[in-house]
Amino acid sequence: MDDKIKTLQEKVALAKLGGGEQRIEKQHAKKKLTARERIAYLLDEGSFEEIGILVTHRTTDFGMEKEIYYGDGVVTGYGTVNGRLVYVFAQDFTVFGGALSETHAEKICKIMDLAVKVGAPMIGLNDSGGARIQEGVRSLGGYADIFYRNVQASGVIPQISAIMGPCAGGAVYSPAMTDFTMMVEDTSYMFVTGPNVVKTVTNEEVTSEELGGASTHSTKSGVAHVTSANDIECLEDVKKLLSYLPQSNAEFPEALPFTPGEEIREELSTIVPDNPNKPYDMHDVIQGIIDEDSFYEIHKDYAENIIVGFARLGGKSIGIIANQPLFLAGVLDVNSSKKAARFTRFCDCFNIPLLVLEDVPGFLPGTDQEWNGIIVHGAKLLYALSEATVPRVTVITRKAYGGAYDVMNSKHIGADLNFAWPTAEIAVMGAKGASEIIFRKEIKAADDPEAKLAEKEAEYADKFANPYRAAQRGFIDEVILPKDTRRKLIKAFSMLENKEVDQPKRKHGNIPL
Ligand code: COA
Repeated sequence: MDDKIKTLQEKVALAKLGGGEQRIEKQHAKKKLTARERIAYLLDEGSFEEIGILVTHRTTDFGMEKEIYYGDGVVTGYGTVNGRLVYVFAQDFTVFGGALSETHAEKICKIMDLAVKVGAPMIGLNDSGGARIQEGVRSLGGYADIFYRNVQASGVIPQISAIMGPCAGGAVYSPAMTDFTMMVEDTSYMFVTGPNVVKTVTNEEVTSEELGGASTHSTKSGVAHVTSANDIECLEDVKKLLSYLPQSNAEFPEALPFTPGEEIREELSTIVPDNPNKPYDMHDVIQGIIDEDSFYEIHKDYAENIIVGFARLGGKSIGIIANQPLFLAGVLDVNSSKKAARFTRFCDCFNIPLLVLEDVPGFLPGTDQEWNGIIVHGAKLLYALSEATVPRVTVITRKAYGGAYDVMNSKHIGADLNFAWPTAEIAVMGAKGASEIIFRKEIKAADDPEAKLAEKEAEYADKFANPYRAAQRGFIDEVILPKDTRRKLIKAFSMLENKEVDQPKRKHGNIPL
């Protein structure tokens, strides 16, 4: 018996060494943790249970039968984060560069299947040279098995991908189909083809970092939702993100204890400037409404004209979508529409109520936007909000102009409660533009056209640059004082808690893509 126990212990010890000390040192020299160190940091101490530690590959080509590593380049299993069950895989770069073999893929699929059956988040820690070159199509099949499961799990359990090293070729499509992609700065990159192929095909000279590093994907492409300075911060980010999410679509996010007080926030009264053309930072409005230090921003540096992120309000998790007057006056454009639509759909999948803070002058005009399909992309946000059945509340802080008024969670597209501050201007467009169009003849015929325009502008502003026409029609449920916003919202979301919506029978809708 002792011998048999020893054999097992030796195998497990070997498995835990991955590709060996030398390769572990190389990993550390690159300022990267190993797969096992990452899992140990991510999960509650002692909670990890490994599945498939003794799995090995079955390849015999290219002398591979002599290169066998227990675990086959990926550590898989389950454990807890802050006491809540999660499933995790971590690719081990010290074994064949974390490259994905048929068996490596089978291990990942096994825990994905468990995660869906049980109903708990799936977290992938990616660090891999891609398809295991020695295996050819069997490796590609393995990727597709994972992709298929990503799609089956979509909207059922939260799926989070942390990119902590290379992620190239087919490998990028699993993270792309998960809910969140988080990247580590300087040590991770994602691209469908690397710089060498780019040079051959397009003659462009580009570095890996420029092509697909964390800064590129967090600012230019929007592929990365969050970036972090190093492995530890990335894993902290995963934990933080999880804290706002439910375990699955069958559950609600965990609420923190909360005892309501007066909930008056005087500081909200002075944020919107008197001059309607002056910008202000919508983050100040968000901070004034939510529980202290509870905002977790997603896509922080991408399409900054809209802000999205999770927060807590009265201890409960909410998703916030807010126009940001500080960037491009808060207009809706291609990227901001896509960003907000994707976030809306995530929240709706996972029972996270939505708060929309609105100050939007309209859609961004111009050939660039039109040729890039603002019509279809803007429609994504309109569609996503219209189909969302979670509790939905809007606060118009200032501008709500044109079609953007409809899109930004208006009453007409199914919002449950719509508030406006007294500073709200709900109209087809700004007073100046509107007057120039509808009073054109009168202005042209006037002795002093400028004075006439100013007079007409004032007339139009008086009629429409306020929330009262909309309130008269019931399009706005209440015009509220800014200082009361937090109190009103806590009560509103609490009132909406048991909201249920029956939907027509259909296979699925056809969101404009
Ligand atoms: N299949 C099999 N083994 C692979 C691999 C792959 N796709 N990618 C890397 N490896 C192995 C290397 O042979 C090396 O093995 P060793 O430790 O026995 O020497 C080890 O992983 C580490 O790779 P290395 O190239 O030394 O690391 P690096 O940090 O210098 O470079 C990459 C990392 C990912 C840039 C580089 O390995 C690479 O370009 N890999 C191929 C990527 C690719 O084209 N994949 C297929 C398309 S999906």
